[in-house]
Amino acid sequence: MAKIATILFIQLMVIFLSICQETLAIEITTYNILKLGANPNGKGDSTNSLSKAWSLACESKTPSIIYVPKGSFLIKHLNFKGPCRNKGITFRVDGILVAPTNYNDIGDANYWLLFEWADGVSINGGTLDGRGVALWACKKNGKNCPSGVTTLAFSNSKNVAINGLTSRNSQMFHIVINGCENVKLQGVNVLASGNSPNTDGIHVQLSKGISILQSKISTGDDCVSIGPGTTNLLIEKVHCGPGHGVSIGSLGKDFDEAGVQNVTVKNVTLSSTQNGLRIKTWAKPSKGFVRNILFQHAIMTNVENPIVIDQNYCPSNKNCPGQVSGVKISDVTYHDIQGTSATGIAVKFDCSKASPCQGIKLESVHLKYKNQPARASCLNAVGTTVGPIEPSSCLS
Ligand SMILES: *[C@@H]1O[C@H](CO)[C@@H](O)[C@H](O)[C@H]1NC(C)=O
Ligand SMILES: *[C@@H]1O[C@H](CO)[C@@H](O)[C@H](O)[C@H]1NC(C)=O
Repeated sequence: MAKIATILFIQLMVIFLSICQETLAIEITTYNILKLGANPNGKGDSTNSLSKAWSLACESKTPSIIYVPKGSFLIKHLNFKGPCRNKGITFRVDGILVAPTNYNDIGDANYWLLFEWADGVSINGGTLDGRGVALWACKKNGKNCPSGVTTLAFSNSKNVAINGLTSRNSQMFHIVINGCENVKLQGVNVLASGNSPNTDGIHVQLSKGISILQSKISTGDDCVSIGPGTTNLLIEKVHCGPGHGVSIGSLGKDFDEAGVQNVTVKNVTLSSTQNGLRIKTWAKPSKGFVRNILFQHAIMTNVENPIVIDQNYCPSNKNCPGQVSGVKISDVTYHDIQGTSATGIAVKFDCSKASPCQGIKLESVHLKYKNQPARASCLNAVGTTVGPIEPSSCLS
């Protein structure tokens, strides 16, 4: 009896010790930027503290947390460079990161916060304030201003999660995902004035397996812009407005350009935006393409161009290439698109003469011009409809 008890005791001890060891092995270190000298009053420069936290987390063999507590932290531009020794760095942000008051301090740096070669980075919460208002005014007045910085960019990174982050008043684009794989943005909030220039909400390019979920984007340019080389992108439950809507493009600026494929945009709402669901390409030769696109369950309110393919894209009509777009657009489905257009033409397909749009499919599309019937306009657009739609189809 005593012997069995001893064996049982030893076995329990072994289990207990191995559990202890396991907890030790996955111990997570937290780097609180306050303890690294950051200043929470928004005035003292906290760049070095955050940079130090990143270096420590990146050199650590085990997963770690970078903690930004409540408060306001002034950060000059910062490059979070990987690769790191571990694949689990989490930013827990309760506070606000603010850019320098004078946009000239960082205006030519391209990026304010740039992650490169990161694997397994998450950002949870927090606010990024790009303080772009003065720069927008400078640009409006046609003065000599720097181009401004993108607030947050991930470049050549993978397995990234961004949750509950707010970006406000970015100088240029708010968030850029470039050359990345497996990035999930959820509960992101983008806020900038409806007439702020080039303040795209989220821009994706040369990336695969990106999802943008349950987010709200109010800005002066595209809500989400989808650049060359985007594959397997999901946009779901996103609200856009004000701004320029969801845009695939602009594409075809270069001859050798990667295509866009397998993009799903669903359960989105667009309010008072310039465009709803748009594909835009420059009118010049290109090897680019757009295929397998699904736009599903969209509600539009007072949108200037609810459904639009524009293969003669040329903003402000300056230095237009004036040729024919080589970008091949095919298999684009619009399913369950409802609401109101702010202009008489609710559906516009202006496709390329050289490569007409193929496989356009319209189903359960019901768009009105205010309370009147709207119209559709087609050029070089081939496709089908299922059931009644309004405005009635002009596809060939
Ligand atoms: C298309 O993209 C979705 C993500 O939106 C992904 O789940 C699916 O596997 C992709 N399809 C193909 C054929 O790669
Ligand atoms: C998307 O919208 C459709 C139609 O309104 C609805 O049936 C569906 O449940 C929605 N999906 C999600 C995930 O909310």
